Amino acid sequence: MKPLYLRSSGSFKRLLLFIGGHRSPAKPAADAGKEAPEPSPESPHRPAWRCFSYDEINRATGAFHEGNLVGRGGSSEVYRGELPDGKAVAVKRLMGASACERRERDFLAELGTVGHARHPNVCALLGCCVDRDLYLVFEFSRRGSVAANLHDEAAPAMGWAARRGIAVGTARGLEYLHKGCQRRIIHRDIKASNVLLTDDLQPQISDFGLAKWLPSEWTHRAIAPIEGTFGCLAPEYYTHGIVDEKTDVFAFGVFLLELMTGRKPVDGGHRSLLSWARPLLADGKVDALVDPRLGGDYDGEQARRVAFVASLCVRAPATWRPSMTEVLELLEGGEIRQDRWAMPEAAADDEEPWWFDDLNDEDEEFNTPSPSSSSSTTSN
Ligand SMILES: Nc1ncnc2c1ncn2[C@@H]1O[C@H](COP(=O)(O)OP(=O)(O)O)[C@@H](O)[C@H]1O
Ligand SMILES: [Mg+2]
Repeated sequence: MKPLYLRSSGSFKRLLLFIGGHRSPAKPAADAGKEAPEPSPESPHRPAWRCFSYDEINRATGAFHEGNLVGRGGSSEVYRGELPDGKAVAVKRLMGASACERRERDFLAELGTVGHARHPNVCALLGCCVDRDLYLVFEFSRRGSVAANLHDEAAPAMGWAARRGIAVGTARGLEYLHKGCQRRIIHRDIKASNVLLTDDLQPQISDFGLAKWLPSEWTHRAIAPIEGTFGCLAPEYYTHGIVDEKTDVFAFGVFLLELMTGRKPVDGGHRSLLSWARPLLADGKVDALVDPRLGGDYDGEQARRVAFVASLCVRAPATWRPSMTEVLELLEGGEIRQDRWAMPEAAADDEEPWWFDDLNDEDEEFNTPSPSSSSSTTSN
């Protein structure tokens, strides 16, 4: 299939109109429906975003004033803005004039995926603008990303309840992307800087620049080049470019570890969180995993669950990772069935999680290893 790269903003406009995203906010009510086609049975799923003019976003951001710059990613700048009705927005300007095709591809990926998603744990797209440059407009998150909040040394440490709430909410958002929306969406870059927080600390998955649709009849996609974030990439993805829901499950496992430990996926010394955490997970040393900044103030059973779920998510064989539906059940306190999660000898490796029959026994000191399998076949 030929990749869809569109070069002129005129082509973009036609495409956007074709997609059906253009909703003029000023359309008089009396006109509504006259020229419009009959609403299709799918109309509840029609995107709710619209096209903005350059003037609108330029005015909203104070002409992209430096003081309104709130984030800079690999290929974008994000500005805070305010619409005439007072609504706060984030305007994402896609950068990289030299890599025009990539910029357009990222723009279309983001528009074509998050533009169809509506969920409390997914950052809402409000619209786009293709005048002069490529822009996406989102609801603004005043708190910024999970990464900014979690790793802010100057602020008090984020409490355990907030971390667990973020884990559960993000799992909900991801389950929706995989199963709940019209098409299967694989995000491909789940990490703390791509999860934003609402005022009351609800997580919202954002940055769909690498996201892909997965047709229902396909088991996976093979993708090149490999893109994403070092330290969060599933082994089958970085070795063979294979992408499916389990790619996101793996990255979600790393995200859980980041929330729990307060460590970045790769630290300043290029040490990966996963390689540091794996032996502790295998030995069930939950206390050693939990962020010392919490000063021991956390719910032990919840922490054991989070660690257990993380250890399942980062399993090397993708088929032995849970689905996001299962992840959510387990995080929310569902029964843990050993027979469901025990890997057969042939698939097992030395990264197996411990088994914790004592999970619900609050009196019992959590203690360690009895990995179900100590046989070592693979590692990653
Ligand atoms: N809706 C938003 N509200 C507030 N800040 C945002 C919003 N979207 C993005 N940001 C900030 O901008 C940063 C980069 O945005 P992102 O969409 O991840 O771009 P990139 O694709 O370049 O990584 C985020 O980590 C976050 O700090
Ligand atoms: Mg990002």
